[in-house]
Amino acid sequence: MDADISLTVDGQSHDLRVDTRTTLLDALREHLHITSPKKGCDHGQCGSCTVLLSGRRVVSCLVLAVAAEGAEVTTAAGLGRDGRPHRVQQALVEHDGLQCGYCTPGQVCSAVGVLDEAAAGWPSAVTPPGAGGDGGPALTAAEIRERMSGNLCRCGAYAGIVAAVEEAARPAGEAPAAPAPRGGGR
Ligand code: FES
Ligand code: FES
Repeated sequence: MDADISLTVDGQSHDLRVDTRTTLLDALREHLHITSPKKGCDHGQCGSCTVLLSGRRVVSCLVLAVAAEGAEVTTAAGLGRDGRPHRVQQALVEHDGLQCGYCTPGQVCSAVGVLDEAAAGWPSAVTPPGAGGDGGPALTAAEIRERMSGNLCRCGAYAGIVAAVEEAARPAGEAPAAPAPRGGGR
């Protein structure tokens, strides 16, 4: 069964007809030819298809396109403003947080979601009881690893990714803590 839907992606409205079983990821990539979100596993296990759906991160391979009707979809390609990259994207470049880049658009969207979730005070599995208060829990390396654990990187660029998210989470002008060790662990 087909359905006519409209999707707003990176600020642009699109009308399309899809089989109601079509995932948001396939609607983006196969119907609209928006290839920033990548298809890694197609089973919700790698995070490479992560986008922001009305500001909240989702794995788009597990969302039906019809369920995204009327929502604002933001991909990594739509995060920059006025020709400038989002601060997460800039930090990933500065900290060498990508190698092949396949996972990177999903890492970017997920990291933006992490910053917003922490700022809203959402705890993670490693947040100590009572931590948070104004501004939410501090995004330590352990918090970032936990919150980003749904985004896999086959190249092992994790050390750079963690450092980049730490930098993006740091208030402007605040000095960094001791540098994160390099390596493939997370
Ligand atoms: S392609 Fe969606 S989580 Fe892997
Ligand atoms: S940079 Fe290659 S999979 Fe992450």
